[in-house]
Amino acid sequence: MKVSLHIEKSHAYTIFALVFVLTIALSAPVAHGGRITGECSDGGMVASACPVASAVGRDILVQGGNAVDAAVAVGFTLAVTFPNAGNIGGGGFMLVRLATGETDFIDYREKAPLDASRDMYLDDSGDVIEGSSVTGHLAAGVPGSVAGMHMAHTLYGSMKWEEVLAPAIELAGEGFPVSKGLAGSLERLQEYVDRFPELRNFMHPDGSPLQEGDVLIQPDLARTLERIANGGLGGFYDGETARLIVEEMKKGGGLITLKDISSYRAVRRDPVNGSYRGYDIVSAPPPSSGGIVLLEILNIIEGFDLGMYGFLSAESIHRMTEAERFAYYDRAMFLGDPDFVSIPLSKLISKDYANEMRSFIGLDALPSDSLGERLPAAQESEETTHYSIVDPMGNAVATTTTLNSGFGCKAMVSGAGFLLNNEMDDFSIKPGVPNIYGLTGGEANAILPEKRMLSSMTPTIVTRDGELFLVLGTPGGSTIITTVAQIIVNMVDFDMSGSTAVSAPRFHHQYLPDRIIYESGAFSDILILELENMGYTLYERFSGIGDAQVVWFDGSMTCGVSDPRGYGKPRGGNDK
Ligand code: DON
Repeated sequence: MKVSLHIEKSHAYTIFALVFVLTIALSAPVAHGGRITGECSDGGMVASACPVASAVGRDILVQGGNAVDAAVAVGFTLAVTFPNAGNIGGGGFMLVRLATGETDFIDYREKAPLDASRDMYLDDSGDVIEGSSVTGHLAAGVPGSVAGMHMAHTLYGSMKWEEVLAPAIELAGEGFPVSKGLAGSLERLQEYVDRFPELRNFMHPDGSPLQEGDVLIQPDLARTLERIANGGLGGFYDGETARLIVEEMKKGGGLITLKDISSYRAVRRDPVNGSYRGYDIVSAPPPSSGGIVLLEILNIIEGFDLGMYGFLSAESIHRMTEAERFAYYDRAMFLGDPDFVSIPLSKLISKDYANEMRSFIGLDALPSDSLGERLPAAQESEETTHYSIVDPMGNAVATTTTLNSGFGCKAMVSGAGFLLNNEMDDFSIKPGVPNIYGLTGGEANAILPEKRMLSSMTPTIVTRDGELFLVLGTPGGSTIITTVAQIIVNMVDFDMSGSTAVSAPRFHHQYLPDRIIYESGAFSDILILELENMGYTLYERFSGIGDAQVVWFDGSMTCGVSDPRGYGKPRGGNDK
């Protein structure tokens, strides 16, 4: 049975609760806006934020490629079909779990250029130059995505490099119909066209934005992808593409030099490991804060019987919120690039440390300013993308990749057809000054040449007794980690299926600003009153939190779900 609701995305969030109740009541595949966003298969599964990219990944699996082949193909395809977040000018993290149980983590996070400096976004009086770390060439870190894809393919790919790039090259060169979601994003990009004329690549010749169904052709991007297909790493970090990046930097006042580009390397790191109520969790290590903060939250709430309190009860929200408050406090205090700062990782993710923090949690809200220095608040912003893939052999990949905010710094490399990130804003550009996600940090995440900026991206894999159970991740800036935590908790504590766990309403707390953000319609009036009586400040958010892409096992089948908050679609290996 299909639950078919025809609604505009902008109105969608106010009826999450309704969709959620219907989903449970009918035990049907998750549907949204008339689309089915969940399905099961016995031939592997690809869940991504873009149906075209999911289909490319599915085709790779059908051709006999493994999960990493599919992940690389999906990654390059997203750079073409989902340019607001998919990228070759940004960075990301790939978590791999082979069918043997062996895990690996590829860090291809951007890094600060050699000429970057701690106060580069401050004026002479020490104040932040507004927007300087967000818009324009100076906001760009040295891109890592191509190095990451290349490393993943070299280590684990079974198909030829050119073969996995072929679909993206074709989609860039021959074009594809613009989706409703992309059309909406391109409309919002209009305001930047005067400052960044290259953005006209996404417009009609008369400057009007492409509409849903119009075909987007990107010849410059197709040529760049061809150089990468033919030249491997050298197709991006050397030769024509590198030269074009440097030229663009000179033109727009950015810092990235040829030396920055040619010396960029993806890095293999040990993922962080933990457990939650008998499930084993593997997740992202620093320079992501994701795995540590996720495990801190889960370790703390493991001591509470959330199942007994019930989903969306004041008691369970209170305990999760307090756990989030403590974990995000540690994020601000301790986390940064592990190549530059020493992180007390094993202490932070230990059960003993969680027991200690849990002992501070009483019946009411604990003000954040009682944990440390009070720091100001800021706005959230959007765009990053996650994809989860499992192949028929049981290999699994969770990848989150980003330009940071939508379309990155908005500067496109002229002649090369791709956008540059604005990841430098993920550094703590001045102690106490929040970034676009309201996150503050200190010394551990200060800017230094060649340092990687702290991330919240949380590609995660959950197993039980050595068997793959769940592959997940989401965009959402600072809310990424709590979204991943809630999906796990929904399945483990509240017994939801993967589809229901993903569509369930979300809330978020990040230590500062000291408030619970909740999706519009998620909290009832009575619940709001109960939480306010406990001392919480609540903030209703009209845009949804996250766009999770999840693959899970329902016992016999591999199931995938794309978040009903976005426009994605899972594709099973045996679905035609
Ligand atoms: O690495 C990070 O944490 C951020 N740059 C991610 C940005 C993001 O998720 C935006 N999407 N909604």
